Amino acid sequence: MSLNVIILAAGQGKRMNSKLPKVLQPIAGLPMLGHVLEAGRALAAERLVVVYGHGGEQVKAAFANQPDVRWAHQAEQLGTGHALAQALSACSEGVALVLYGDCPLITASTLKMLLEAAGEDKLAVLTAVMDNPTGYGRIVRDPAGRIVRIVEQKDASDAEKSIREINTGFIAVPLKHLRDWLPRLKNANAQGEYYLTDVIAMAVDNGVAVTGVIASDAWEPAGVNDKRQLAELERVYQRRQADKLLAGGVTLLDPSRFDLRGTVEHGQDVEIDVNVILEGKIKLGNGVKIGPNVYLKNATLGDGVIIKANTVIEDSVVGAGSDLGPFARLRPDSILGEKVHIGNFVEVKKAKLGNGTKAGHLAYLGDAVIGERVNVSAGVITCNYDGANKFVTTIGDDAFIGTDSQLVAPVTIADRAYVAAGSTITKNAPADALTICRARDQKSILGWKKPEKVAKG
Ligand code: UD1
Ligand code: CA
Repeated sequence: MSLNVIILAAGQGKRMNSKLPKVLQPIAGLPMLGHVLEAGRALAAERLVVVYGHGGEQVKAAFANQPDVRWAHQAEQLGTGHALAQALSACSEGVALVLYGDCPLITASTLKMLLEAAGEDKLAVLTAVMDNPTGYGRIVRDPAGRIVRIVEQKDASDAEKSIREINTGFIAVPLKHLRDWLPRLKNANAQGEYYLTDVIAMAVDNGVAVTGVIASDAWEPAGVNDKRQLAELERVYQRRQADKLLAGGVTLLDPSRFDLRGTVEHGQDVEIDVNVILEGKIKLGNGVKIGPNVYLKNATLGDGVIIKANTVIEDSVVGAGSDLGPFARLRPDSILGEKVHIGNFVEVKKAKLGNGTKAGHLAYLGDAVIGERVNVSAGVITCNYDGANKFVTTIGDDAFIGTDSQLVAPVTIADRAYVAAGSTITKNAPADALTICRARDQKSILGWKKPEKVAKG
């Protein structure tokens, strides 16, 4: 039976106080609507239909690279039933699964249970039992425990308001029934809206079986209306990811101070200290250790890599056995070989460093191709930019670049070349030689007197 996932996302989200439409507000770096779409894809839906309205073009543009998404426009927000009706022409036949774009924590496994409960001919609704059900639609059951209808908070009697089982809003139902019921919805209710929830009573009237599935995790159907709830769900989502990593054998010194905004592949015995942020695609080899306050984005770290505190790495690859930081920075396209050492206040950009190369302190290595076992001393700078164009510095194997040297690119330092401290190198330095370029005559002024403080008076 083919599955149509329909995501209602036309609501405005005024309480976000933001120019960004509500469903584009991120959880773990991905728009909320993106999370819901992923859940739909995990179910192998034949169609994914999003009902959009407010901020529509911006919402569509955010998913322009996802051609499997179909869009249905709801010009005016006349209620959830009206919203769903807008999607029908974009659907095929089979079962409709209705989700909300602002409920990002729903999981495919819970939705599978809902779809199984609906089968091919029933209506299944996901419910939850809440200590404080205020604001939600309530599930009304008959004395035999069968669901008979849903009543919205604003239309509910006091007795109905005391019901703690609520409607999450997620339903699964054959499309053929929706095509029959939705045009018959009325808006004679407290909010003057076409309520999707009214289809429950229609199903009962038509003899279509209605079944409820109670969500085991009350966070799953949780919706986001404001930044406080967004922050709350972010923490729940991060905790789930942390738990997955812990289950996979990663040591997190404090799971509540860990953020993953993307995906991570990892080996065994990975250790992550507090306040580490992983973004994009991250690969961590066996035995990788990451110190506190580290930010990694699209990074691949080989086995045994050690990243010390306050290091930033973006779009880069670090070979096995290397160590970086504290306070090191790899900017995009840095490729480090094995056992490379990058110490504090060293910035590397678009550079290749061979195995065993060391840059221990205060250096800038940009647009450089550096060989193996090179020693880059403190204060070395590749002068890669002339104000208009960028040039490459090439350094051969086993070269030694003395302290505070500037290598003015384009320039090549040959294998085993030795650049003396304080040199400004503008011409190629040959192999096996000492190259020196600095003001030669050092003077000492004998009998020189230190300046004295002038008394104020
Ligand atoms: C709805 C349910 C309520 C349930 C609650 C769960 C109805 C009538 N009520 O109430 O039983 O307990 O969700 O959170 O269905 N939307 C549109 N177009 C519209 C109206 C809404 O696309 O015209 C979308 C919103 O963007 C949102 C979802 O539908 O994603 C729910 O809308 P919302 O206004 O939040 O419904 P509630 O009143 O909270
Ligand atoms: Ca709501």
